[in-house]
Amino acid sequence: MFDTTGKKRRAAQAALQYVEEGMVLGIGTGSTVHELIEALKNCKIHLEGAVSSSRQTSEALRAARIPELDLNFAGELPLYIDGADQATAQGALIKGGGAALTREKVLAAASTRFVCIIDDSKLVDVLGAFPLPVEVIPMARSYVARRLLALGGQPVWRDGVVTDNGNVILDVHNLTLSDPVGFETAVNQIAGVVTVGLFARRGADVLIVAGNDGVKTLTP
Ligand code: A5P
Repeated sequence: MFDTTGKKRRAAQAALQYVEEGMVLGIGTGSTVHELIEALKNCKIHLEGAVSSSRQTSEALRAARIPELDLNFAGELPLYIDGADQATAQGALIKGGGAALTREKVLAAASTRFVCIIDDSKLVDVLGAFPLPVEVIPMARSYVARRLLALGGQPVWRDGVVTDNGNVILDVHNLTLSDPVGFETAVNQIAGVVTVGLFARRGADVLIVAGNDGVKTLTP
């Protein structure tokens, strides 16, 4: 039996097979990514550097002595590795539980391959039981909340949280996202929305799912 941390560690370890010597790697945010950075620190693969998705990840990279590179100079990334809050076998994701969704979405978009590492409790048939994070510019919070209500959700302001970009987060409850691409597109159209934490238009290319009986790899 593995606890959740043990599963996250196994998923992170399995992702190392995609990391090549001399690579510039995009790195997400969260506790599963923390395990990835630990694994990178302890393995023999030498990276040219990593592009970070958050201040939290930048600190962990510094501690692991992995050089951080600026995406503006790194160009297209060959590989992005990140966790998720929920995932479908088709590679659609909910992300942003750690409020890093905007930079994460940029890195996913700027990468040739996106490998997502999760424990098996996060694999679902339909997204939505995990409240969907939406990053919003502060003055538009109330307006965007009304638009999200009109789309059928129950937005809740994540009070006290300011993102690395100076914005706020609305967590949208009570959603059943049977058309994640359509919903992502609809939320993207709301003025004041910076990023919706639905990664369906550009989802994961590879899902590494760790459970008690081992690690399985899905390629949606
Ligand atoms: C950060 O904003 C999120 O997108 C994380 O990738 C997600 O919350 C997964 O986090 P854990 O690995 O901590 O579960």
